[in-house]
Amino acid sequence: MSTLSSALPDFPWDLLEPAKAVAAAHPGGIVDLSVGTPVDPVPPVVTAALTANANLPGYPLTAGTGEVRAAIAAWTAAACGASGEVGVLPTIGSKELVAWLPTLLGVRPGDTVVIPPVCYPTYEVGVRLAGATAVRTDALTAVGPDPRVRLVWINSPSNPTGRVLPAAHLRKVVAWARERGAVVASDECYLSLGWDTTPVSVLSDEVCGGDYTGVLAVHSLSKRSNLAGYRAGFVAGDPALVGELLAVRKHAGMIVPGPVQAAMVAALSDESHVAEQRTRYGARRERLRAALTGAGFEITHSEAGLYLWASRGEDCWKTVDWLAAKGILAAPGEFYGPAAGQHVRVALTATDERVDAAMQRLAG
Ligand SMILES: Cc1ncc(COP(=O)(O)O)c(C=O)c1O
Repeated sequence: MSTLSSALPDFPWDLLEPAKAVAAAHPGGIVDLSVGTPVDPVPPVVTAALTANANLPGYPLTAGTGEVRAAIAAWTAAACGASGEVGVLPTIGSKELVAWLPTLLGVRPGDTVVIPPVCYPTYEVGVRLAGATAVRTDALTAVGPDPRVRLVWINSPSNPTGRVLPAAHLRKVVAWARERGAVVASDECYLSLGWDTTPVSVLSDEVCGGDYTGVLAVHSLSKRSNLAGYRAGFVAGDPALVGELLAVRKHAGMIVPGPVQAAMVAALSDESHVAEQRTRYGARRERLRAALTGAGFEITHSEAGLYLWASRGEDCWKTVDWLAAKGILAAPGEFYGPAAGQHVRVALTATDERVDAAMQRLAG
């Protein structure tokens, strides 16, 4: 039997288990910087909204409540600089949308989807689930006039590299895709985490001028609001495309739970907890960056986002093992694309106490 899972890559994290076992055996305990999972508390303003809306026996709307739709629209206007009328739709975190977007848009075998050369693995997973072909490049000129391109993924700030695409680059991607009738999906889940530069949304007036034809922005509350456990995200952009996604998702039961929709309203209406969390990550970033540089690492890009993209100029698995011997776990660059074999990704999502431990070990 040919199974759908056989079309998918091996689950990469299983490959990290041996290094994890080595790191876990460190007498001071593991410092796990391999995954970008939030460790700080859910903001009280959000838990209050969740619990106040716990008694919701009926089915929630796939389209989202009027309140959550209004909160998403207001947020895209304020944080993304989108002055036009955007279509909005809550999603069950953003990973499911990334994995199913090609299928939901009707991308089929024989179609091509462009993804960044070094990127979050789920873009390729989504292409494979649709039976289509992924092309890894950020130089669209290399793709040429290929009429089979149906979708172009961009991710700025990038996971794992932290690279930010300037507005001029985003404008070119949008123009290129529109000429071919392809959709641009911009994954912007790290938008609030600019350090050395301010990331620009694809929805900003600088890029789209209020016309979102063929453009979708994908957002997540997991990182900005420590809500990875709630599964809260949304897609915003071209009203016709968002309407199409809604039409399919209604049938497929892809509904954000009602209490989570209420929590999203609270999270999107408050920027103070985002600023507070940003400050925590900023401090951890400075300390980890100094410790890695002091230990001989070179940090590339990393101007935004939740990771340091670090290299010792050697095979990434050698670096993973070197760090694991110090009780520190990082993700090998290879997980993110064949072009990243000499980097490791170091997440900023560890408590201050664990960051201190990592610093001491890197200095020793
Ligand atoms: C680039 C990128 N997109 C999407 C996601 C998915 O996040 P979530 O499903 O928690 O919204 C992640 C998670 O790490 C990510 O790094």
